[in-house]
Amino acid sequence: MKVLMVASECAPFVKTGGLADVVGALPGALARVDVDAQVVLPAYPPLFPVLPEGEEVARFDDLPGGPGRLVRATVHGITLLLLDAPQLFDRPGGLYVDENGRDWSDNHLRFGALSMAGARIAMGAIEGYQPDVVHAHDWQAALAPVYMRMAGRDIPRSIITIHNIAFQGRFGPQVLGQLQLKTDWFHPEGLEFHGDLSFLKGALMFSDRITTVSPTYAREILTPEFGMGLDGVLQARSGALSGVLNGIDTEAWNPATDTALAQTYDAKTLKRKAANRVALSERLGLETRSDAPLFCVVSRLTNQKGLDALLEAVPHLVDRGAQLAVLGTGQPDLEKGFRDAAMAHPRQVATHIGYDEALSHLFQAGSDAILIPSRFEPCGLTQLYGLHYGTLPVVARTGGLADTVIDANVAAIVAKAATGFVFHEVSANGLAAVIDRVVEAYADPKLWQSMQRAAMRHPVSWDSSAQAYHDLYTELV
Ligand code: ADP
Ligand code: GLC
Repeated sequence: MKVLMVASECAPFVKTGGLADVVGALPGALARVDVDAQVVLPAYPPLFPVLPEGEEVARFDDLPGGPGRLVRATVHGITLLLLDAPQLFDRPGGLYVDENGRDWSDNHLRFGALSMAGARIAMGAIEGYQPDVVHAHDWQAALAPVYMRMAGRDIPRSIITIHNIAFQGRFGPQVLGQLQLKTDWFHPEGLEFHGDLSFLKGALMFSDRITTVSPTYAREILTPEFGMGLDGVLQARSGALSGVLNGIDTEAWNPATDTALAQTYDAKTLKRKAANRVALSERLGLETRSDAPLFCVVSRLTNQKGLDALLEAVPHLVDRGAQLAVLGTGQPDLEKGFRDAAMAHPRQVATHIGYDEALSHLFQAGSDAILIPSRFEPCGLTQLYGLHYGTLPVVARTGGLADTVIDANVAAIVAKAATGFVFHEVSANGLAAVIDRVVEAYADPKLWQSMQRAAMRHPVSWDSSAQAYHDLYTELV
């Protein structure tokens, strides 16, 4: 089985969030179930050093936004098909935004080109390589199934995976021509979304299958509350929709071997975890303590993640004697809010604004609990890292958070099944109440350790989900 992944991020090369973790880990997991997955990815500057080592396998002169070539290279065990189109991808700034945080004005061309490259490969552009399935991820790859359908007969099967329906790739209708899209497909039963072109809607209309990254989110996006305007389209295609939970890369994320930690540990040597709390506290200038829990946040700082509500609950957390360490970047108001909170409570609250992969590992190992109060969360990965590191997740009951964390209610505690804390209301009050529950559980070391062990036993690898994708691909072809 040959699967072509089309995606705009891939860890460890280029990452803004969980999409990169998934695209970086899934091919290796699929290889173990005999699926050969290659990844079409834009050649952004961090990938330039790889280009000379690769082999040019195709050239295109008429992609949206100009010419491009494909270079195949295997790095860190992943076979990449790098779309080298410097006019689109050789620039400073972020993957999607310029140095001032504004979307690149030609994002439709950049990701139209990525999608078209994927479709061309599906149609045989690379000699000796014919994928059976094209698996597109998020709006940036979403035109791939559309271009395939436009090309007509005898095409491979296609899947779109929704990692976050809040991002849809919506552009004015004037870009249709630049994207070489059929204007007679521009209507509400096709590519049109309220007068605009929507990349994601295109894929929802024209892919053979639609998946998202947890079963609960697959149900939630069928409702107006979570569907972001696409719930009607999804309902019409609900027979093609399913949820497959994300896993994590248990080699990159393993507390027993993690080189970013002050002290490695496993479920049998949990006591050694404490050295990481000391190291993290010293690094952040927090008071070194163990009488109350240290909570952490590792996140994009946005309202999606409910961090505005957490900010309001900080005084309560501090009153309860707990500590908080925040690692993230994002909305200026939240960055400032958490910086101010750290200044107001320097021994109990620390804020590190920035993106730091190694530090995120020490945050996971050094904290007792990880807070994820998201308003919606398609899957979420940081709660999975938390489980695997014995750092109990404190999560809102939504999307993949609800599917991966077992709340410490009485029944779960008696059954020794509880792995974290699940709460409902994303508000300062809701957070204060769950913080109280965590502080009380932490005061009972026997209970806490039993929960840590249950968390560390919880299966978080890709094994079962790779099998689920394998089965889906097999069913399709
Ligand atoms: P999302 O993709 O919505 O941002 P996920 O939980 O799926 O949420 O994935 C977020 C990923 O980004 C995780 O791997 C997390 O550790 C990482 N991450 C988020 N913010 C930071 C940061 N400031 N520094 C390092 N890693 C971060
Ligand atoms: C998105 C979602 C997140 C998910 C990630 C990977 O960024 O916000 O919940 O874990 O994609 O699928």
